[in-house]
Amino acid sequence: MGNPQTIWYNIEKNLVETIDQRYLPFQNLIIEISTLNEARTAITEMIVRGAPLIGVTAAYGMYLAARNYSGIEFHSEMNRAADWLKSSRPTAINLAFAIDEALSTISTQLTVPENSNLLLEYAEELKQREIGFSEKMGGFGLEIIQEIRRQKNGEPVNILTHCNAGRLATVELGTATAPMYLAHQAGIPIHVWVDETRPRNQGARLTAWELGEAGIPHTVIPDNTGGHLMQHGMVDLVIVGSDRTTLNGDVANKIGTYLKALAASDNGIPFYVALPSTSIDWNLNDGISEIPIEQRDGREVSMMEGLLVDQVHEFRILPEKSPVANYGFDVTPARLVTGLITERGICKASKEGILKLFPEKTSNND
Ligand code: MRU
Repeated sequence: MGNPQTIWYNIEKNLVETIDQRYLPFQNLIIEISTLNEARTAITEMIVRGAPLIGVTAAYGMYLAARNYSGIEFHSEMNRAADWLKSSRPTAINLAFAIDEALSTISTQLTVPENSNLLLEYAEELKQREIGFSEKMGGFGLEIIQEIRRQKNGEPVNILTHCNAGRLATVELGTATAPMYLAHQAGIPIHVWVDETRPRNQGARLTAWELGEAGIPHTVIPDNTGGHLMQHGMVDLVIVGSDRTTLNGDVANKIGTYLKALAASDNGIPFYVALPSTSIDWNLNDGISEIPIEQRDGREVSMMEGLLVDQVHEFRILPEKSPVANYGFDVTPARLVTGLITERGICKASKEGILKLFPEKTSNND
């Protein structure tokens, strides 16, 4: 599989490298990031995407801003860099979380090179933290899969997922996919239904590629297929990721997640969300009214990209003059979520459930 990580600091070149996700699955290209602006562009252009990976990229971006700085107003410049990076994408809270943590590591008592070293250490530490979180979530989610397998007398467990909450959205293993990787490694037979995830097709292009590389049986389905499969007993479990989860357990994830949750609820199918605590917004209590939903370029809807013979082409798929709407995310209310799989365990999607796992957050939220 090559480097299992999706982003890394190249010491020899003194810059950051990452996979350019715009070209997968047709080409697996590595892109270099050596300035704050390149880090921001990587996020806005979705060279990197997925909440935890956006956070780690932003942390490296803060380091690059410091490393390249040569003026005399270092701290105000770092605050400007923070605001500039934060404005890159609005929904995933990991972005603001990582930037605020990065800012809190630097000090007016230190020189620019010292602060710059601290920021690189922070980015590396956040990366390791996310890897650890993925492993933990994987272990807890694995228990759910094992239990379903027992109930099915060893028959393959059919899991439906939406978008890409995999390795490519994190640093390693993923969030929603972490339990799948661990189940597969443990020899538990699983099969994954992969929602194609229009308009950018992160499921068809990225999740399918990832699962294929890992040898995990999977089938790509058009986004509207899940309900039908659920009605016919072909889905045992849904696991998705999250870009921002509020303290009351509402989950913002890729557009279309809510419809899967509704169908799962109607068919009595467990619907789990796997998320590291870096995706929890401790300040919000109502996802639908409070989480900012990104609206992206209409071209993502009107155009599609695909391979023709051996070349990638872009095609228009609707009348030139038809208006389009492109909401990037939706919010699944807590009542439709069976449980949240976090690095500390599985909890109810509620304030009480979340604070039981993260009691240190109680003081400012009671
Ligand atoms: O727009 P994207 O591709 O960044 O959206 C990604 C998702 O919605 C993922 O499901 C989410 O970030 C969870 S990532 C582990």
